[in-house]
Amino acid sequence: MILTYSIKMRQVVGFRKQGEQVKVKQAELKAAAYNANDFPTWDYPEVSFIGRSNVGKSSLLNNLIGRKNLARTSSTPGKTRGLYFYLLNEKLCFVDLPGYGYAKVSKKERERWAPIIEDYLGTRLNLRGCLHLIDCRHEPTESDRLMSDWLRAHTITTITIATKADKISRGALNKQLAVIRKGLGFFEDDLLLPFSARTGAGRDQAWKAINGLF
Ligand code: GTP
Ligand code: MG
Repeated sequence: MILTYSIKMRQVVGFRKQGEQVKVKQAELKAAAYNANDFPTWDYPEVSFIGRSNVGKSSLLNNLIGRKNLARTSSTPGKTRGLYFYLLNEKLCFVDLPGYGYAKVSKKERERWAPIIEDYLGTRLNLRGCLHLIDCRHEPTESDRLMSDWLRAHTITTITIATKADKISRGALNKQLAVIRKGLGFFEDDLLLPFSARTGAGRDQAWKAINGLF
């Protein structure tokens, strides 16, 4: 079954597999949305990237696509200010969402993007699944838990990614993965994948999980 999914996905995305490396031949920013009226009207399947501001959504997206700076990244939280639609090989779309709940930005700023994120996740028929990012160094925050519960309640297929895995030792990472699983109330078969945008560790597993959405 997984093999069939994988072959289908290869047809959908049209990427080549070279050893362990997945190649995206073509990637382009096709649309930016600042309210629900801006969402593009098309039939492309979409996979969205959601998580706290600064958790590494744009970095993960760039790493998966294999482009350094297609999605803008920054150490200042709140870099991604709208929804950005990146079309891959004219077949699959990655959607970079604005971050939620970063403690160091004002409450007003934190609440600013909630309606459009909810509009997108709650109504978008193109959505095939969601990558939910959690910083591997910390316990899930209240907003992480709320988002995880919300995605589950809305039966959105979710791959949870523990980001910035290069920042802690392997032993600490294993401990943190257990902390995150517990914090989010995961069942045994809920997926939590460690990832580092700096080293690329976890990239293949992330792509495999994305394949599994199709
Ligand atoms: P917003 O758009 O503000 O919501 O942030 P984001 O979630 O898109 O985060 P972004 O990818 O811009 O990364 C935030 C910061 O963390 C940047 O300085 C990145 O270089 C850094 N960063 C992201 N991923 C990793 C990682 O895996 N390892 C390390 N060491 N740094 C990372
Ligand atoms: Mg971003």
